Amino acid sequence: MLDNFPLWPERASTLAGGVDALFIFLLIVSGLMTLLIFTAVVYFAARYRRKPGVLAVQIEGSTPLELTWSIIPLFVFMVIFLWGAVVYFKGRTPPRDSTEVYVVAKQWMWKLEHAEGQREINELHVPVGRDVKLIMTSQDVIHSFFVPAFRMKQDVLPGRYTMAWFRATKPGTYHLFCAEYCGTQHSGMIGSIVVMEPAQYEAWMGGGSGGPLSATGEKIFAELGCATCHRTDAQGRGPNLQGVFGKPVQLEDGRTVMADENYIRECVLDPGAKRVKGFQPIMPTFQGLVSEEQVNALVAYVKSLATPGPAGASSAAAPVPPSKAQQTKGSQVN
Ligand code: CUA
Repeated sequence: MLDNFPLWPERASTLAGGVDALFIFLLIVSGLMTLLIFTAVVYFAARYRRKPGVLAVQIEGSTPLELTWSIIPLFVFMVIFLWGAVVYFKGRTPPRDSTEVYVVAKQWMWKLEHAEGQREINELHVPVGRDVKLIMTSQDVIHSFFVPAFRMKQDVLPGRYTMAWFRATKPGTYHLFCAEYCGTQHSGMIGSIVVMEPAQYEAWMGGGSGGPLSATGEKIFAELGCATCHRTDAQGRGPNLQGVFGKPVQLEDGRTVMADENYIRECVLDPGAKRVKGFQPIMPTFQGLVSEEQVNALVAYVKSLATPGPAGASSAAAPVPPSKAQQTKGSQVN
């Protein structure tokens, strides 16, 4: 119905309906309240206007009345809070086996890299009906990744990863905006999300790729000499990284942290900050020596080590038995 009367941007993700429903509810509640207050103001102004010969009467408080106007709003606000929380957590929590895309924002463009290795600028191709997780960082200032048709917006910050996800529901091309003022060309920091049918997408994917991102990461890992300390046996001077990703890590200072994307990133750039229990502080920082894209590749590589099997065989987080991982190595479709 609203397609012919576009008050709203198109709805093209699984999150869009829930966000709109809550928004419409808020509009209705505020509309009714506004109406109620205006009507009461006009009515009371007329009803209790000054009349000759009538003296004003002082009315003292009324407990039932005060309870009513406290309890009813409390109930309404709790509905808004709980409903909002449900929508928020759904939008915040990427489903487990999402396809992963690394996003690097800079003044003034979006650089996107698929876990499979495809790189794009200001354009992101995704298949319809699949969960896509965005792992985002900025090379300079704060930007914000905003796709109105998906009802999705997430700030992109320098120095850390922020995550977002969506599942597109219909093929088409949708606007991508930067929604955080980031300098003179901020308004030009736009792009598009191209949602394709799965078959079309596979064809697009097949066209030209430098191999999976995790394989690039493995190469960087070797070139930087990481492998001399992070050995795959217990003899290394650094922790063995096999199977580390996604698990809790015991730190030297007694804390336990989750080995997620941000932790791996921090270990590369600021190794002393959260040192693993039982290891000496000998790792140098790679701050300034590796680009954001290279950090992403290293993270993707460490992630690929989370599942047993050869590195780069499965860039997705889904566990793959080693034998199957062997067979699918080098194949884009899995
Ligand atoms: Cu980037 Cu505004």
